[in-house]
Amino acid sequence: MKKKKLKLKKKNFYICIVVLLIVLTIIFYDPTISIIYLMRKGYTFSESSNLYYNDLSKKALEQDYNSTIAKISSSKEFINDNFDIYCEIEYHDNNDFLINVNNLIDKGYDSNDINNINNKNNKDLIDYLTNNRVENISKWLEYDFFKSENIERYLKNFDGDYKNTIVQVNIGLDKPYYEDVNVIKEFSSTVLANKYNKLDSSFVPDNVTLLDKCSEGEAYLSKEAKEAYDKLCAASIDAGLSLSVNSAYRSYDDQQAIYDTYYSLYGQSYVDKYVAIPGYSEHQTGLALDVKSLNTNLFINSKEYNWMLENSYKYGFILRYPSDKEEITGYNFEAWHFRYVGIDIAKYIYENNITYEEYYVMFIE
Ligand code: DAL
Ligand code: ZN
Repeated sequence: MKKKKLKLKKKNFYICIVVLLIVLTIIFYDPTISIIYLMRKGYTFSESSNLYYNDLSKKALEQDYNSTIAKISSSKEFINDNFDIYCEIEYHDNNDFLINVNNLIDKGYDSNDINNINNKNNKDLIDYLTNNRVENISKWLEYDFFKSENIERYLKNFDGDYKNTIVQVNIGLDKPYYEDVNVIKEFSSTVLANKYNKLDSSFVPDNVTLLDKCSEGEAYLSKEAKEAYDKLCAASIDAGLSLSVNSAYRSYDDQQAIYDTYYSLYGQSYVDKYVAIPGYSEHQTGLALDVKSLNTNLFINSKEYNWMLENSYKYGFILRYPSDKEEITGYNFEAWHFRYVGIDIAKYIYENNITYEEYYVMFIE
């Protein structure tokens, strides 16, 4: 009886040893430890296993949990040598994410570049950049108004200033006037009509309204511009001035008549600089007007001109063709031609001394 009990004790002892050995093996077996540590960092069991079996657990354990690594750890496109750069790349949930990232790394873009590229969320841009190495791509991408479709034109016309190059190309200044013309489809008080953007010959603005203040003959503006002009007029009278209007809304046919007259009087080079081809004139928008002083024929020497320069923006008007911006506007300085754009935009343009073209490509289109 005693012998039998001793035998049983011995058997239990061996069972315990075996169980202990199994437990110790499980605990100290490398995958188990690594996977447990990875899970403690925040990776799921399956992410941790993937990292372990892809030989990445050591690297992953050396740093904090990384959500990009977690998301791509099971991908067959995962390249171990890219581990460090992957850690700095923000994950984007699309099928080609890792393929694109790998291609961009191959082209020599760093993690900051790749994040900036991905943030544009533009397949054409990624395709272009995976095929073409663009130096300092992040400097180009800093600007919201960077347009992927213009990238080759930016590179071709780069003048050392990223912002300026983008603005100039977006305006269209790298192309001859009238060559690649956009026909304006949507009309609003912020419409841009110039040598690259034209109105249909049949276009007539809604609500053209007769000017009845600071105006003598028959001149019309769109209702919104007319109401703003009334306020401007009242303020100019308070300032002791005598403003009036030479020309405001002009139909396509009116513009044709004016163009023909000036052409026959002064020739091609004059109209190129001062008179818009019909369709390309802001006067057809009902938002532009040519002002004059009732005190003098030479508007540029008048108190009214100086007052308009410093005050018209408060009522939503800008000097549309300033003296040192001919290269941008496409027209010579016109002291008399003002354009209604609304108070906020006019104020910005006044304070930053820019043209409407520049404002438009940066903030509107
Ligand atoms: N004078 C301006 C450019 C026009 O004709 O519209
Ligand atoms: Zn004008």
